[in-house]
Amino acid sequence: MINFTKFENIDLANSLIEKALAFKTDPRVNENKGNGKRIGLIFLNPSLRTRMSTQLAASNLGVESFVLNMDKESWALEMQDGVVMNQNKVEHIRDAAAVLGGYFDILAIRAFPTLTNKEEDISDFVINQFIKYSGVPVISLESAIRHPLQSLADMVTIRENFKENRKPKVVLTWAPHIKAIPHAVANSFSEWAIGCDYDLTITHPHGYELDKKFTNGATIEYDQTKALADADFVYVKNWSAFTPYGKILSVTGEWLLNESKFGENTHAKVMHCLPVRRNLELSDEILDGNRSLVQHQAKNRIFAAQAVIDTML
Ligand code: CP
Repeated sequence: MINFTKFENIDLANSLIEKALAFKTDPRVNENKGNGKRIGLIFLNPSLRTRMSTQLAASNLGVESFVLNMDKESWALEMQDGVVMNQNKVEHIRDAAAVLGGYFDILAIRAFPTLTNKEEDISDFVINQFIKYSGVPVISLESAIRHPLQSLADMVTIRENFKENRKPKVVLTWAPHIKAIPHAVANSFSEWAIGCDYDLTITHPHGYELDKKFTNGATIEYDQTKALADADFVYVKNWSAFTPYGKILSVTGEWLLNESKFGENTHAKVMHCLPVRRNLELSDEILDGNRSLVQHQAKNRIFAAQAVIDTML
């Protein structure tokens, strides 16, 4: 593994999941492994969990971490190659990434999509510019199209909460929102659940089909109640339309998940990556009830990041 930006293969996924679970049992077992190493965490967008959990993961391994909120604290970056920089962009990604690559052993980047330039977003342009010009291993802290550290933590959470000798039945359900939200968490969750050979059903209103590149192998079910009937894990997430790109569509029916939607399914656990808008995306009743795994997921972000950094070291 050189960069960590997506699901690679089931062997690597299993090895990272097992490593994360081992770190959860003994977070400091490799506390000197990263002595003398430095990781730069570069944020072009806000974060609570990703920033804190990755810093904690680095600390557990003896790696020094440095955070730059590049969107607020640094120069406005020009991302395109070959342009005359006579507008408001002050520094080229080519120069900034090379400088950061010279400072750090590992770079970790958060770069959300524009949701306006579909071609650029689906090429994962910004993180790939960092990979191209930094010359050091890069970890995605959520890119335009994927959130692999979140998905790894989600797979760890499913592994530790499912003890039956069969594939878990996992449902990814669309949830309402007032803003146009990126596809990264939904894409990545689908990519990892299918890659880990789980039985994945995706339920959403008509028009909210995700990029097929990420959902090939999943069952699409437009009836949410039917999808939930025998689920073991229900992952709740909003995303904007993929076509037309980044738009909010009008939706018929009630998509907010509440207890009554589960019918006789008393065992299903509910997941969400957070942050969550309570009673818009997910009800208080579910978030604060026995089904909720959201705090487990957030805690597992530390050990997922630790497994990735340890493997890179
Ligand atoms: N789930 C997640 O990535 O949270 P943050 O955006 O707060 O990092």
